[in-house]
Amino acid sequence: MEKLNLTLKIWRQDGPDDSGKFQSYNLKDVSPHMSFLEMLDVLNEELLNSGVDPVVFDHDCREGICGMCSMVINGRPHGSKNGTTTCQLHMRHFNNGDIITIEPWRAKPFPVIKDLVVDRTSFDRIIQAGGYISVNTGSAPDGNAIPISKDIAEDAFDAAACIGCGACVAACKNASASLFVAAKVSQLSLLPQGNPERENRVIEMVGQMDSEGFGHCTNTGACEAECPKEISVEYIRKMNWEYHRANIKN
Ligand code: SF4
Ligand code: FES
Repeated sequence: MEKLNLTLKIWRQDGPDDSGKFQSYNLKDVSPHMSFLEMLDVLNEELLNSGVDPVVFDHDCREGICGMCSMVINGRPHGSKNGTTTCQLHMRHFNNGDIITIEPWRAKPFPVIKDLVVDRTSFDRIIQAGGYISVNTGSAPDGNAIPISKDIAEDAFDAAACIGCGACVAACKNASASLFVAAKVSQLSLLPQGNPERENRVIEMVGQMDSEGFGHCTNTGACEAECPKEISVEYIRKMNWEYHRANIKN
């Protein structure tokens, strides 16, 4: 495959109070075998060599697990390849001469820290509000001591695939975090281990989501379409049901 000459239009913002702007960079001879983040590494090396501040972007595992590589590529969170995180997106999906626009997540509860990095601690606070199970310490329970049917286990596992990246918020015109919260609520409420705190969990997590300033879900489905883990909007229906059930019971 031929090497790529690209024009990168990247959002540069010095800090939360800077208004920010797009800056264009030409990058030549990009290998199609590189990942998108490796391409940005090469750009940053060139910028450093010419005395320009490198582009700041989040990344960690680079294998689709940690959810850190948050950026909007050509208007779509994590780029145009469905079910793929930015770190797993490869340059072979682009063409020679392409102009690629790269921006941070745009949502009020995710303020920009610098360039492409946003502050997603609002997600951490939602998890702290109830996205856990309290356990007694002691020796580990025997494996399979609590039988769980295959259907339920798979449903819980699908919800647990959420990596907390925030693409669902970035994709939503309301900046709703419903898909993220629904995945986290469902993952625990489906399993017997999550039952003791079931009602408080959903009330607290939904309450925290609202107080962080995320918008309401209006069922556009943009979140599911852009989620790199293809979490289903069906979990939002489950969360709403859990929420009403908890309010009736409490
Ligand atoms: S639901 Fe999908 S898009 Fe939203 S945080 Fe989880 S993995 Fe990311
Ligand atoms: S860097 Fe971890 S999911 Fe992309």
